[in-house]
Amino acid sequence: MASVMKKRILTGIQPSGRPHIGNYFGMMKQVVDMQEEYEVLPFIVDYHALSTVRDRTQMQENILNVAIDFLAIGLDTKKAILFQQSRVSAHTELGWILNCIATMPFLMRAHAFKDAQEAKKKEITVGLFDYPILMAADILLYDTDIVPVGKDQQQHLEMARDLAEKFNRIYGETFKLPKALIKEDVAVVPGLDGKKMSKSYGNTIPLFATRAEIEKAVMSIVTDSGGVENDGKPENVYAIHRLFKSEEELAPMYEEHKGKYGDLKKLLVEDIDAFIAPMRERRAEIANDIDKVKDVLNNGANIARELADAKMQLVRDRLGVTL
Ligand code: TRP
Repeated sequence: MASVMKKRILTGIQPSGRPHIGNYFGMMKQVVDMQEEYEVLPFIVDYHALSTVRDRTQMQENILNVAIDFLAIGLDTKKAILFQQSRVSAHTELGWILNCIATMPFLMRAHAFKDAQEAKKKEITVGLFDYPILMAADILLYDTDIVPVGKDQQQHLEMARDLAEKFNRIYGETFKLPKALIKEDVAVVPGLDGKKMSKSYGNTIPLFATRAEIEKAVMSIVTDSGGVENDGKPENVYAIHRLFKSEEELAPMYEEHKGKYGDLKKLLVEDIDAFIAPMRERRAEIANDIDKVKDVLNNGANIARELADAKMQLVRDRLGVTL
């Protein structure tokens, strides 16, 4: 049977410590859900992370943790290709090549760079400035069809497309133009205070939280901020509860315990724990066998390298550096 070519989805993951349920519903879950229908390449952007992480141990831990996290939520490495960016040197090689067609003003338009400038960040490295180029290389190397991104990454994706077009114009058709898949509604998961769940706001529930951590987080959900409560429903409690149960399931529960925030919070703890516990246990098992995790990453790198190397041969040929 002729196999139908699956569309290829690429998604770069920052190795930035413990994920929270906002990361899960906003991105991680989609990656796993898509592995059936698409060829998914989730990769750990450790070289991008160099612009912030400068501690060797932390780097190693963060990389391994991302891999363990994804395996724990059900990423199937027979289907998806999980790998480290740094293990496929074509990323940085293509990055250099793209540097030679990108202009300074083009990069100066990047939000991340402008924000750093406005915040008068002490040290703006060339790496931070060049971040969009490495990201473009990541994407273009694999003839990526679709890149699921949050709104904050939309500009980076447009830059990747611009660079692909420019390269193709100069050297002839080489790169496929990737499409962004912007996640509008799922992207914002409410935090404990009703603001977007984010590490920088300190309003998160860790994805692999222990029971005690879940209790602590839920008890600190702000129930009276602004007093905007509809029909006796504590707004922030309900908003988080909706991630785990449907409106239909929640309606009788919130009716029965109307106005009793303590009760509702206890019910929420149960629902979150029921959801997290199996993943938490799986994670503990996987973390017990780090060699296996490293094997997964080695395998992933080998497969990715093959794809990337084939593309680089074409690129080098177009450039005229192959004789
Ligand atoms: N810049 C992305 C982020 O901060 C991570 C990333 C790097 C990425 N390279 C990528 C995402 C390629 C998608 C495709 O989240």
